[in-house]
Amino acid sequence: MHRQGIAAIILSAGGVIAAPAPQASAPAAEIKCPIVFDGRVPVGTEKTFFDTYATNTIFNPDYVKGNDLKWSQILQYPSVESSRFDGADYQAIEVTLSDKSIFQQQNGFRRAGLQFLRDSSDGPGTTGVKTLHFSVKQDPTRPLNLTHEYLNVWHEAADYSSNQIQFQYGQIIGKSAADKNNFKILDRNGRSLYSVAADPSSWQNFAIKLDYTKNQVQIYYSIGQAALKSVAGPTSASLTGGGQFQIGMLKKPTGTSDVVNSGYQEKNLNEGQIYGGLFLEDSANNCVSL
Ligand SMILES: *[C@@H]1O[C@H](CO)[C@@H](O)[C@H](O)[C@H]1NC(C)=O
Repeated sequence: MHRQGIAAIILSAGGVIAAPAPQASAPAAEIKCPIVFDGRVPVGTEKTFFDTYATNTIFNPDYVKGNDLKWSQILQYPSVESSRFDGADYQAIEVTLSDKSIFQQQNGFRRAGLQFLRDSSDGPGTTGVKTLHFSVKQDPTRPLNLTHEYLNVWHEAADYSSNQIQFQYGQIIGKSAADKNNFKILDRNGRSLYSVAADPSSWQNFAIKLDYTKNQVQIYYSIGQAALKSVAGPTSASLTGGGQFQIGMLKKPTGTSDVVNSGYQEKNLNEGQIYGGLFLEDSANNCVSL
Protein backbone atom coordinates (compact mmCIF):
# COMPACT_ATOMS: atom_id res chain seq x y z
CA MET A 1 0.00 0.00 0.00
CA HIS A 2 2.76 2.40 0.95
CA ARG A 3 4.60 1.72 -2.30
CA GLN A 4 1.42 2.34 -4.32
CA GLY A 5 0.90 5.62 -2.49
CA ILE A 6 4.32 6.83 -3.55
CA ALA A 7 3.73 5.66 -7.11
CA ALA A 8 0.50 7.65 -7.19
CA ILE A 9 2.27 10.82 -6.12
CA ILE A 10 4.98 10.35 -8.75
CA LEU A 11 2.39 9.70 -11.45
CA SER A 12 0.37 12.76 -10.43
CA ALA A 13 3.45 14.94 -10.45
CA GLY A 14 4.31 13.71 -13.93
CA GLY A 15 0.77 14.33 -15.10
CA VAL A 16 0.61 11.05 -16.98
CA ILE A 17 -2.49 9.58 -15.37
CA ALA A 18 -4.72 10.64 -18.27
CA ALA A 19 -2.81 8.56 -20.82
CA PRO A 20 -1.45 5.53 -19.01
CA ALA A 21 0.97 3.16 -20.65
CA PRO A 22 -0.25 -0.43 -20.84
CA GLN A 23 -0.26 -2.06 -17.40
CA ALA A 24 1.23 0.99 -15.64
CA SER A 25 -1.59 3.20 -14.59
CA ALA A 26 -3.79 4.56 -11.86
CA PRO A 27 -3.28 3.25 -8.34
CA ALA A 28 -5.54 0.41 -7.27
CA ALA A 29 -8.68 1.30 -5.42
CA GLU A 30 -8.48 0.12 -1.85
CA ILE A 31 -10.00 -3.26 -1.00
CA LYS A 32 -11.28 -2.52 2.46
CA CYS A 33 -12.97 -5.80 3.37
CA PRO A 34 -11.33 -9.20 4.03
CA ILE A 35 -10.61 -11.11 0.81
CA VAL A 36 -12.13 -14.60 0.80
CA PHE A 37 -10.89 -15.71 -2.66
CA ASP A 38 -8.31 -13.64 -4.51
CA GLY A 39 -8.40 -14.06 -8.30
CA ARG A 40 -6.08 -11.14 -9.05
CA VAL A 41 -3.02 -12.15 -11.08
CA PRO A 42 0.25 -10.55 -9.97
CA VAL A 43 2.19 -8.74 -12.69
CA GLY A 44 4.97 -11.00 -13.94
CA THR A 45 3.12 -14.30 -13.41
CA GLU A 46 4.29 -16.85 -15.99
CA LYS A 47 1.39 -18.30 -17.96
CA THR A 48 2.56 -21.86 -17.18
CA PHE A 49 1.86 -20.99 -13.53
CA PHE A 50 -1.80 -21.75 -14.28
CA ASP A 51 -1.19 -25.29 -15.56
CA THR A 52 -0.53 -27.35 -12.42
CA TYR A 53 -1.43 -27.55 -8.75
CA ALA A 54 2.30 -27.33 -8.02
CA THR A 55 2.33 -23.67 -9.08
CA ASN A 56 -1.22 -22.38 -9.41
CA THR A 57 -2.27 -20.89 -6.08
CA ILE A 58 -5.12 -18.84 -7.58
CA PHE A 59 -7.35 -21.04 -9.73
CA ASN A 60 -8.15 -24.71 -10.24
CA PRO A 61 -5.66 -25.80 -12.96
CA ASP A 62 -7.83 -28.68 -14.22
CA TYR A 63 -11.24 -27.05 -14.67
CA VAL A 64 -13.36 -26.02 -16.61
CA LYS A 65 -11.75 -26.10 -20.03
CA GLY A 66 -11.14 -27.91 -23.28
CA ASN A 67 -9.83 -31.42 -22.65
CA ASP A 68 -6.73 -30.90 -24.78
CA LEU A 69 -5.91 -27.36 -23.68
CA LYS A 70 -3.80 -25.98 -20.85
CA TRP A 71 -4.66 -22.71 -19.16
CA SER A 72 -1.37 -21.30 -20.47
CA GLN A 73 -2.87 -21.73 -23.96
CA ILE A 74 -6.28 -20.37 -23.01
CA LEU A 75 -5.25 -17.26 -21.11
CA GLN A 76 -3.75 -14.20 -22.75
CA TYR A 77 -2.25 -11.11 -21.17
CA PRO A 78 -3.82 -8.21 -23.06
CA SER A 79 -1.94 -4.93 -23.21
CA VAL A 80 -4.51 -2.73 -21.53
CA GLU A 81 -4.77 -0.15 -18.79
CA SER A 82 -5.11 -1.74 -15.35
CA SER A 83 -8.61 -2.12 -14.00
CA ARG A 84 -9.79 -0.33 -10.87
CA PHE A 85 -8.89 -3.00 -8.31
CA ASP A 86 -5.73 -4.23 -10.10
CA GLY A 87 -3.58 -1.10 -10.05
CA ALA A 88 0.13 -1.49 -10.75
CA ASP A 89 0.58 -4.84 -8.98
CA TYR A 90 -1.94 -7.03 -10.80
CA GLN A 91 -2.62 -7.63 -14.47
CA ALA A 92 -5.61 -8.24 -16.69
CA ILE A 93 -6.20 -11.71 -18.10
CA GLU A 94 -8.12 -12.64 -21.21
CA VAL A 95 -10.06 -15.91 -21.34
CA THR A 96 -10.23 -17.20 -24.92
CA LEU A 97 -12.31 -19.72 -26.82
CA SER A 98 -11.20 -21.81 -29.78
CA ASP A 99 -12.53 -24.88 -31.58
CA LYS A 100 -10.74 -26.94 -28.93
CA SER A 101 -12.74 -25.43 -26.07
CA ILE A 102 -14.77 -28.59 -25.57
CA PHE A 103 -15.03 -29.81 -21.97
CA GLN A 104 -15.57 -33.54 -21.42
CA GLN A 105 -18.17 -34.63 -24.02
CA GLN A 106 -20.04 -31.29 -24.09
CA ASN A 107 -19.90 -30.83 -27.86
CA GLY A 108 -22.59 -28.14 -27.87
CA PHE A 109 -20.68 -25.71 -25.66
CA ARG A 110 -17.42 -23.91 -26.13
CA ARG A 111 -16.19 -23.08 -22.67
CA ALA A 112 -13.31 -21.96 -20.49
CA GLY A 113 -14.21 -21.10 -16.92
CA LEU A 114 -11.88 -20.23 -14.06
CA GLN A 115 -12.69 -21.49 -10.59
CA PHE A 116 -11.08 -20.08 -7.47
CA LEU A 117 -8.68 -22.74 -6.17
CA ARG A 118 -10.20 -22.90 -2.68
CA ASP A 119 -13.83 -22.53 -3.68
CA SER A 120 -15.90 -25.58 -2.78
CA SER A 121 -19.59 -26.40 -2.98
CA ASP A 122 -20.19 -25.87 0.75
CA GLY A 123 -17.28 -23.54 1.49
CA PRO A 124 -17.04 -19.88 2.47
CA GLY A 125 -18.19 -18.75 -0.98
CA THR A 126 -21.65 -20.08 -0.16
CA THR A 127 -22.31 -18.66 3.32
CA GLY A 128 -22.75 -15.35 5.12
CA VAL A 129 -22.63 -12.21 3.01
CA LYS A 130 -20.04 -12.17 0.22
CA THR A 131 -19.39 -9.78 -2.67
CA LEU A 132 -17.93 -10.94 -5.97
CA HIS A 133 -15.92 -8.26 -7.76
CA PHE A 134 -14.87 -8.38 -11.41
CA SER A 135 -14.10 -5.95 -14.18
CA VAL A 136 -14.63 -6.73 -17.85
CA LYS A 137 -13.22 -5.27 -21.04
CA GLN A 138 -13.67 -6.13 -24.70
CA ASP A 139 -10.90 -7.18 -27.09
CA PRO A 140 -11.65 -5.78 -30.57
CA THR A 141 -9.38 -8.43 -32.10
CA ARG A 142 -11.36 -11.31 -30.50
CA PRO A 143 -15.01 -10.20 -30.61
CA LEU A 144 -17.80 -12.37 -29.28
CA ASN A 145 -20.66 -13.33 -31.59
CA LEU A 146 -23.67 -11.83 -29.86
CA THR A 147 -26.09 -13.98 -31.86
CA HIS A 148 -25.08 -16.60 -29.30
CA GLU A 149 -25.82 -16.75 -25.58
CA TYR A 150 -22.81 -16.49 -23.27
CA LEU A 151 -22.43 -17.13 -19.60
CA ASN A 152 -19.46 -15.14 -18.37
CA VAL A 153 -19.60 -15.08 -14.58
CA TRP A 154 -21.87 -17.30 -12.55
CA HIS A 155 -22.39 -19.27 -9.38
CA GLU A 156 -23.46 -22.80 -10.19
CA ALA A 157 -25.43 -24.73 -7.58
CA ALA A 158 -23.78 -27.82 -6.13
CA ASP A 159 -26.23 -30.13 -7.94
CA TYR A 160 -25.54 -28.32 -11.28
CA SER A 161 -29.30 -27.81 -11.75
CA SER A 162 -29.18 -24.01 -11.86
CA ASN A 163 -27.00 -20.95 -11.42
CA GLN A 164 -28.06 -18.80 -8.48
CA ILE A 165 -26.61 -15.77 -10.22
CA GLN A 166 -25.56 -15.38 -13.86
CA PHE A 167 -23.76 -12.56 -15.66
CA GLN A 168 -24.49 -12.99 -19.34
CA TYR A 169 -23.83 -11.48 -22.75
CA GLY A 170 -25.30 -11.93 -26.23
CA GLN A 171 -28.79 -13.09 -27.14
CA ILE A 172 -30.35 -15.28 -24.47
CA ILE A 173 -31.85 -18.35 -26.16
CA GLY A 174 -35.61 -17.95 -26.51
CA LYS A 175 -35.49 -14.24 -25.67
CA SER A 176 -35.40 -11.07 -27.73
CA ALA A 177 -32.20 -10.09 -29.53
CA ALA A 178 -32.86 -6.43 -28.72
CA ASP A 179 -30.57 -6.43 -25.67
CA LYS A 180 -27.86 -8.73 -27.05
CA ASN A 181 -25.23 -6.01 -26.61
CA ASN A 182 -26.11 -5.69 -22.92
CA PHE A 183 -24.50 -7.41 -20.00
CA LYS A 184 -27.35 -8.98 -18.11
CA ILE A 185 -27.34 -10.13 -14.51
CA LEU A 186 -30.06 -12.73 -13.95
CA ASP A 187 -31.23 -14.74 -10.98
CA ARG A 188 -31.55 -18.53 -11.11
CA ASN A 189 -35.01 -18.23 -12.68
CA GLY A 190 -33.80 -15.97 -15.48
CA ARG A 191 -35.28 -12.84 -13.91
CA SER A 192 -33.31 -9.71 -14.78
CA LEU A 193 -31.63 -8.02 -11.81
CA TYR A 194 -29.59 -5.52 -13.81
CA SER A 195 -28.66 -4.82 -17.41
CA VAL A 196 -26.23 -2.37 -18.96
CA ALA A 197 -24.81 -1.93 -22.46
CA ALA A 198 -21.36 -3.40 -23.00
CA ASP A 199 -18.80 -0.67 -23.60
CA PRO A 200 -16.54 -1.31 -26.60
CA SER A 201 -13.44 0.24 -25.03
CA SER A 202 -13.71 0.98 -21.30
CA TRP A 203 -13.38 -1.22 -18.29
CA GLN A 204 -16.75 -1.96 -16.69
CA ASN A 205 -16.64 -2.85 -13.02
CA PHE A 206 -19.24 -5.01 -11.32
CA ALA A 207 -19.76 -6.19 -7.78
CA ILE A 208 -22.49 -8.63 -6.86
CA LYS A 209 -23.31 -8.80 -3.16
CA LEU A 210 -24.76 -12.18 -2.24
CA ASP A 211 -26.51 -12.28 1.12
CA TYR A 212 -26.91 -16.01 1.72
CA THR A 213 -28.51 -15.35 5.11
CA LYS A 214 -31.39 -13.27 3.68
CA ASN A 215 -31.43 -14.60 0.09
CA GLN A 216 -30.86 -11.12 -1.29
CA VAL A 217 -28.69 -9.73 -4.08
CA GLN A 218 -27.37 -6.21 -4.55
CA ILE A 219 -25.50 -5.03 -7.66
CA TYR A 220 -22.81 -2.34 -7.82
CA TYR A 221 -21.38 -0.92 -11.04
CA SER A 222 -19.01 1.69 -12.42
CA ILE A 223 -17.13 2.45 -15.60
CA GLY A 224 -13.40 3.06 -16.03
CA GLN A 225 -11.68 4.04 -12.80
CA ALA A 226 -14.83 5.48 -11.15
CA ALA A 227 -15.99 4.25 -7.75
CA LEU A 228 -18.72 1.63 -7.72
CA LYS A 229 -22.29 2.68 -6.97
CA SER A 230 -25.28 0.56 -6.02
CA VAL A 231 -27.43 0.20 -9.14
CA ALA A 232 -29.91 -2.52 -8.15
CA GLY A 233 -31.31 -4.12 -5.02
CA PRO A 234 -31.08 -5.42 -2.48
CA THR A 235 -33.70 -7.67 -4.00
CA SER A 236 -34.91 -11.14 -3.05
CA ALA A 237 -33.33 -14.03 -4.96
CA SER A 238 -32.92 -17.62 -3.87
CA LEU A 239 -29.26 -18.34 -3.20
CA THR A 240 -29.71 -21.78 -1.66
CA GLY A 241 -27.94 -24.90 -2.88
CA GLY A 242 -24.22 -24.18 -2.42
CA GLY A 243 -21.90 -24.52 -5.39
CA GLN A 244 -19.01 -22.66 -6.98
CA PHE A 245 -18.20 -19.51 -8.89
CA GLN A 246 -17.01 -19.67 -12.47
CA ILE A 247 -15.46 -16.83 -14.46
CA GLY A 248 -14.73 -16.92 -18.17
CA MET A 249 -16.93 -17.90 -21.07
CA LEU A 250 -19.49 -20.56 -21.77
CA LYS A 251 -20.79 -20.07 -25.31
CA LYS A 252 -24.03 -21.86 -26.06
CA PRO A 253 -24.78 -23.16 -29.58
CA THR A 254 -27.65 -22.06 -31.78
CA GLY A 255 -30.33 -24.18 -33.43
CA THR A 256 -30.86 -26.89 -30.81
CA SER A 257 -32.89 -27.69 -27.75
CA ASP A 258 -29.99 -29.78 -26.40
CA VAL A 259 -27.43 -27.01 -25.87
CA VAL A 260 -24.95 -29.17 -23.95
CA ASN A 261 -24.48 -31.78 -26.65
CA SER A 262 -25.50 -30.48 -30.07
CA GLY A 263 -26.28 -27.39 -32.14
CA TYR A 264 -24.23 -25.00 -34.26
CA GLN A 265 -20.89 -23.41 -33.42
CA GLU A 266 -18.91 -21.67 -36.14
CA LYS A 267 -15.41 -22.95 -36.96
CA ASN A 268 -12.07 -21.17 -36.48
CA LEU A 269 -13.32 -19.61 -33.27
CA ASN A 270 -11.08 -16.93 -31.78
CA GLU A 271 -12.98 -15.07 -29.08
CA GLY A 272 -11.82 -13.44 -25.89
CA GLN A 273 -13.22 -11.77 -22.79
CA ILE A 274 -10.86 -9.67 -20.68
CA TYR A 275 -11.11 -9.73 -16.88
CA GLY A 276 -9.45 -7.81 -14.09
CA GLY A 277 -9.94 -7.04 -10.42
CA LEU A 278 -11.37 -10.45 -9.63
CA PHE A 279 -11.94 -11.30 -5.96
CA LEU A 280 -14.59 -12.32 -3.46
CA GLU A 281 -14.74 -10.24 -0.31
CA ASP A 282 -16.44 -10.72 3.02
CA SER A 283 -19.31 -8.27 3.29
CA ALA A 284 -20.20 -9.00 6.91
CA ASN A 285 -21.25 -5.73 8.56
CA ASN A 286 -22.21 -4.45 5.10
CA CYS A 287 -18.60 -3.93 4.02
CA VAL A 288 -18.27 -3.47 0.25
CA SER A 289 -15.19 -2.05 -1.47
CA LEU A 290 -16.24 0.68 -3.85
C1 LIG B 1 -22.48 -15.72 -35.49
O1 LIG B 1 -23.32 -16.77 -35.11
C2 LIG B 1 -24.35 -17.06 -36.07
C3 LIG B 1 -25.23 -18.14 -35.44
O2 LIG B 1 -24.48 -19.27 -35.09
C4 LIG B 1 -23.72 -17.51 -37.37
O3 LIG B 1 -24.73 -17.73 -38.33
C5 LIG B 1 -22.76 -16.44 -37.87
O4 LIG B 1 -22.06 -16.91 -39.00
C6 LIG B 1 -21.76 -16.06 -36.79
N1 LIG B 1 -20.98 -14.91 -37.22
C7 LIG B 1 -19.67 -14.94 -37.28
C8 LIG B 1 -19.01 -13.68 -37.69
O5 LIG B 1 -19.02 -15.93 -37.01
